[in-house]
Amino acid sequence: MPNLSGKGAGEPVAMWDVQLVSSAGDLDAILDIEHASFTNPWTREMYLAEFENQGVSYCFVVRDAAGRILGFCSFWRVLDELHINNLAIAPEERGRGAGTALLQRVLQEGERLGARRATLEVRASNLAALRLYERLGFSVGGVRPGYYTNPIEDALILWREDRARG
Ligand SMILES: CC(C)(COP(=O)(O)OP(=O)(O)OC[C@H]1O[C@@H](n2cnc3c(N)ncnc32)[C@H](O)[C@@H]1OP(=O)(O)O)[C@@H](O)C(=O)NCCC(=O)NCCS
Repeated sequence: MPNLSGKGAGEPVAMWDVQLVSSAGDLDAILDIEHASFTNPWTREMYLAEFENQGVSYCFVVRDAAGRILGFCSFWRVLDELHINNLAIAPEERGRGAGTALLQRVLQEGERLGARRATLEVRASNLAALRLYERLGFSVGGVRPGYYTNPIEDALILWREDRARG
């Protein structure tokens, strides 16, 4: 079911469709966005292994009205926790609300699957991602010094509690 996501009064309303990836057919588009977004991108083999890990590993894509994939989010549901592994929007599509629509849908799905909290790691300098996460209820819970390579950088560990259940 398509969901509407706008940026506020007076601005155009865009339509995003966020869906669970059900086949490896979407993988080329996901890998293009992965490579354009990260300095240490996950490989095709890594994603194929994730698709095999059913019941734990999930991947959602956000599409435009024409069905084109604009971005993706892969995550694990481990007991009552949602672990967000990757989230990216194609560079030319950023800043229009697709990332927000995608992450909101993923958080909803996590709650439906029984997750009570969500966590992820983000580069300390990634202000765009940090703002998005903070707007959706995440806050910094810790730091992993020098966690990232290429370039070396600290990871901030973010957590979000399921506010509906406290
Ligand atoms: C982080 C990312 C997924 C956000 O997706 P997006 O579609 O651009 O996000 P949205 O348009 O929904 O914007 C959501 C919020 O993010 C923040 N944001 C987005 N782009 C920003 C920028 N260039 N600078 C600062 N804040 C920014 C803003 O708070 C924005 O909300 P606002 O416009 O109402 O202020 C996208 O920038 C991306 O793919 N980055 C590269 C990959 C990455 O860093 N992934 C996260 C790894 S942990």
